[in-house]
Amino acid sequence: MRKQVAVIGAGNVGATLAQLIVQAGLSDVVLYDIVEGMPQGKALDMMEASPLWDVGVNIRGANDLKDISGSHIVVITAGAARKPGMSRDDLLNINAGVVRTVSKGIAEYCPESIVIVVTNPMDVMAQLCRVTTDFPAERVMGMGGVLDSARFSTFVAEELGVSPQDVDALVLGGHGDRMVPMPRYTTVRGVPITDLLPAGKISSLIKRTRNGGAEIVALLKTGSAYYAPAASAFQMVRAILLDEKRVVPAAACLNGEYGIDGLYAGVPVVLGSKGVERIIELQLEGDEKDFFEISVQAVKGLIEKTGLMIDH
Ligand code: NAI
Ligand code: 2OP
Repeated sequence: MRKQVAVIGAGNVGATLAQLIVQAGLSDVVLYDIVEGMPQGKALDMMEASPLWDVGVNIRGANDLKDISGSHIVVITAGAARKPGMSRDDLLNINAGVVRTVSKGIAEYCPESIVIVVTNPMDVMAQLCRVTTDFPAERVMGMGGVLDSARFSTFVAEELGVSPQDVDALVLGGHGDRMVPMPRYTTVRGVPITDLLPAGKISSLIKRTRNGGAEIVALLKTGSAYYAPAASAFQMVRAILLDEKRVVPAAACLNGEYGIDGLYAGVPVVLGSKGVERIIELQLEGDEKDFFEISVQAVKGLIEKTGLMIDH
């Protein structure tokens, strides 16, 4: 039997993710949104594209959370997106209500599913989803590091005049303005960029990466990025569905790793059919350690405001 992925929120990120899954013939998809008719319309449109995409999976739209039953993976993209001048953190109050409601539905209708949280502020929303569903830590994660790393790869590739396919970047910490791009672990065919670029240039690429989401918001004016975010979530969905054991940076619930307990933070993980199958603990040095700590403290501040600490 084919597996099913539920995408919660049929807006820019959700619909683009659904398209990527269907176009790849990866699994059936249920596209859920509160706006009546909209997910059904987008789903029908994609079904009608399936003969052209040469795929045979099903996609249907839904306005009732019950309809996500039977999904192996649920991706939460529902909620408001940033507008110019807003930070991801400004979305906290608006989106907490949405994520709490859908997480209750996920616990009720898909109790064995693996959840990927995209909605911002993502690290806090992942924590909220874990607390609300009470799922084991390995079954609730957040998408941010894959996107931030893809942005860093893009900027490094552009600077060096090489293909982004040959750049392997790593960004850790929270998916916020204090994220931590890691030059020592960012390589071009195995060569660290610290051997290829002067420190000043690396600093400016780090700054552009941290500002990557805002750069797109300033250009779009009506919303935030969605092609690269959807492609990032797709990579995680595929790794889980196909049990690929991909090593990606993702927001995972730390249980003592990196000296952090009961808090979501972006770290390298192994993704497979069980979800977050392993957390990889890097030996951070000097500035890396300080910046990671600052980034995690920023997420912790928001989480404490919402009273969401996890007691293992
Ligand atoms: P969008 O505005 O295009 O779509 C959001 C959708 O959520 C809308 O269709 C809306 O009707 C729906 N929605 C609102 N409340 C809902 C509810 N209670 N149940 C179901 N659906 C509901 O926004 P977009 O661009 O798709 O972004 C979605 C979220 O993802 C935002 O919070 C954004 O900040 C976040 N995001 C996170 C990224 C990351 O790396 N973690 C990257 C890009 C976006
Ligand atoms: C981004 O980084 C808004 O989190 C979203 O584009």
